[in-house]
Amino acid sequence: MKLNSKEALNLLNACRGKAINDDWILHSICIGNTASVIAKHLNLDEDYAKTLGYIHDIGKREGWNQYEGVLPHAIKGYNYIKSLGYDDDYAEICIKHSFLNHDINCLANDRDYTDSKDSRYEFIKQIVQKEDSIYDKIINLCDLMCSTKLDFMEKRLMDLLIRHGVYKNTHYHLLEARKLKTQMDDLLGYNLYDLFPELRANI
Ligand SMILES: [Fe+2]
Repeated sequence: MKLNSKEALNLLNACRGKAINDDWILHSICIGNTASVIAKHLNLDEDYAKTLGYIHDIGKREGWNQYEGVLPHAIKGYNYIKSLGYDDDYAEICIKHSFLNHDINCLANDRDYTDSKDSRYEFIKQIVQKEDSIYDKIINLCDLMCSTKLDFMEKRLMDLLIRHGVYKNTHYHLLEARKLKTQMDDLLGYNLYDLFPELRANI
């Protein structure tokens, strides 16, 4: 079953007040809206990009513990979207958005899962290893650009480094993040930040 951005927004709004705060909802809306602008300028499906952005963190709807790493919210989001009967691509973005280069080891600030005995590891790995669609890549990039509001990827990555420190794969993740931004600039034919003049206020 397909999902559209209006229904996805309804899913988000139904979650208001259930977690410690609603910042993750503002973050999700920021990602969806940013992704739709990028999709529009790449002649892609704007509403599909927006939908994926809105639901990517839906696994946080009942709260989450940042010290648990990314696996719990990823799995919860995947299972929730599947339980509602939506197609695999909607469920899979709940997992794929945290990993760059479709590699389970390419994540910003988290545990090293390389030798993980976590029972969820193999399942997540299987999903993450699938080739990323252009929409997956847009959501990946937007997740690196949005807190509760849009910012430069470089500033947000710096903020993550300051807040969470450096892990074994942080350097790898930074390289892939920069590659992703460059790839999107190349597809557009200009700097992606030019699409968002409001960023200038954040310099
Ligand atoms: Fe996110």
